[in-house]
Amino acid sequence: MTSYEAHFKVWRGDPQGGGLEDFSVEVHDGEVVLDIIHRLQATQAPDLAVRWNCKAGKCGSCSAEVNGRPRLMCMTRMSVFTRDETVTVTPLRAFPVVRDLVTDVSYNYAKAREIPSFVPPPGVAAGDYRMQQVDVDRSQEFRKCIECFLCQDTCHVVRDHEENKTSFAGPRFLMRVAELDMHPLDAAAGSGVDRKRAAQEEHGLGYCNITKCCTEVCPEQIKITDNALIPLKERAVDRKYDPLVWLGSRIRRR
Ligand code: SF4
Ligand code: F3S
Ligand code: FES
Repeated sequence: MTSYEAHFKVWRGDPQGGGLEDFSVEVHDGEVVLDIIHRLQATQAPDLAVRWNCKAGKCGSCSAEVNGRPRLMCMTRMSVFTRDETVTVTPLRAFPVVRDLVTDVSYNYAKAREIPSFVPPPGVAAGDYRMQQVDVDRSQEFRKCIECFLCQDTCHVVRDHEENKTSFAGPRFLMRVAELDMHPLDAAAGSGVDRKRAAQEEHGLGYCNITKCCTEVCPEQIKITDNALIPLKERAVDRKYDPLVWLGSRIRRR
């Protein structure tokens, strides 16, 4: 096994402020950034706050920014950096810092709660649901999401404009709306839920200008933009210009 000393800069601080601290730390073959953060905790900075759980890229907890790019620390191999490169680890920029590398991601849970859940089709017993394989495949891609919120962190709509948070759900939750709107068995419309209207008027679909940065950082390689956001935009626009919908809205207004 070979090892070397790496130069790390790690952000330390709290909501009142903080800054980057320098560390020289041992790295062994096959290690990932999270291993190094754990070694720092064990040897030099026992009070360094970091959130993690699975160390297998499945819990979505260890999200941070490594050299400015939103990443899972447990899935970022040290071998992607040269040995003389400084590795800078900072908390997710779009969310408020709790301490060190831990951020308060409650914005995301608030957005999740705003989306009405799947409503099963009436008169069909659980276990008797049937849908085409193409619809199953579409849902399964979206359900690979591990809620790491890297896409939420990188989307410029909230990353650069804190004030947009109230009116923009972000790519992860617009993807959820898209999944449900395209789900052939979702019967939410029967209880008055209009997912296309909500996508535009409540979840800020129009703020997305298809930059695809969300898709680039997704560790599950979900094609968020192409398979969820663009289809949802098309469906919402199609509906808006559907002559029957237009006529219905004119009649209702009278
Ligand atoms: Fe993370 Fe991808 Fe889910 Fe976004 S869509 S929260 S990047 S797994
Ligand atoms: Fe943001 Fe993704 Fe749209 S990064 S602007 S939600 S394509
Ligand atoms: Fe679970 Fe990194 S620790 S995704």
